Amino acid sequence: MTRLIFLGPPGAGKGTQAQILASTLQVPHISTGDILRAAVSDKTDLGMKAQAYMDRGELVPDDLVLDMIRERLAQDDVKPGWILDGFPRNVPQAIALNKVLEEINQAFDRVINFNVPDEAIIVRLLARGRKDDSESVIRRRLEVYREQTAPLIDFYQTQIITVDGNRPMEEVTAALKQVVVG
Ligand code: AP5
Repeated sequence: MTRLIFLGPPGAGKGTQAQILASTLQVPHISTGDILRAAVSDKTDLGMKAQAYMDRGELVPDDLVLDMIRERLAQDDVKPGWILDGFPRNVPQAIALNKVLEEINQAFDRVINFNVPDEAIIVRLLARGRKDDSESVIRRRLEVYREQTAPLIDFYQTQIITVDGNRPMEEVTAALKQVVVG
């Protein structure tokens, strides 16, 4: 499997595991959060528009994120595969992704859903201390996850594999590799 979608609440370990697995599979790790943070730091148009949403823990408007993903998936290095981390984030984004993939004659292999309880997430993210890792913003991100992102578990119900992300990183990696690499 080389085309994977990583789904899960903030702090579930999507980015950490995507980086490891992308290097094993030799495919790009595409994180919408990382692309947006780079845009904010470079003060691009996209970054200026996205920053206030990110600071509050709200989703950046779909049209901005979709343009970004369409552009990224059109690049040559993603032909052998990719890991999408943090996208799609709601049902309209998932429908739009299906359309983009159809246009470029690709399909994803699996959706990996990371399961971690809120209490563990809050401890992890407070310890990390990114700009959007204050307790109030973490709680808002968790609400946004539940309201907008969790419905994707049903949307992808026949293509989803759930992994217990609440254990040491190496154990999560081993479980993932078993599912994805065999
Ligand atoms: P994004 O960057 O996607 O943030 P997130 O979903 O909140 O994800 P995190 O990076 O917090 O968590 P993660 O699951 O990747 O965990 P990680 O591996 O980093 O999005 C940020 C913002 O950008 C959004 O709020 C939104 O505004 C915007 N955005 C992004 N995508 C968007 C989209 N598609 N549409 C609209 N807006 C979008 O790990 C977290 C910490 O835990 C680390 O310190 C790590 O070392 C630690 N850790 C990892 N695994 C373990 C483990 N097994 N045990 C203990 N600690 C662990």
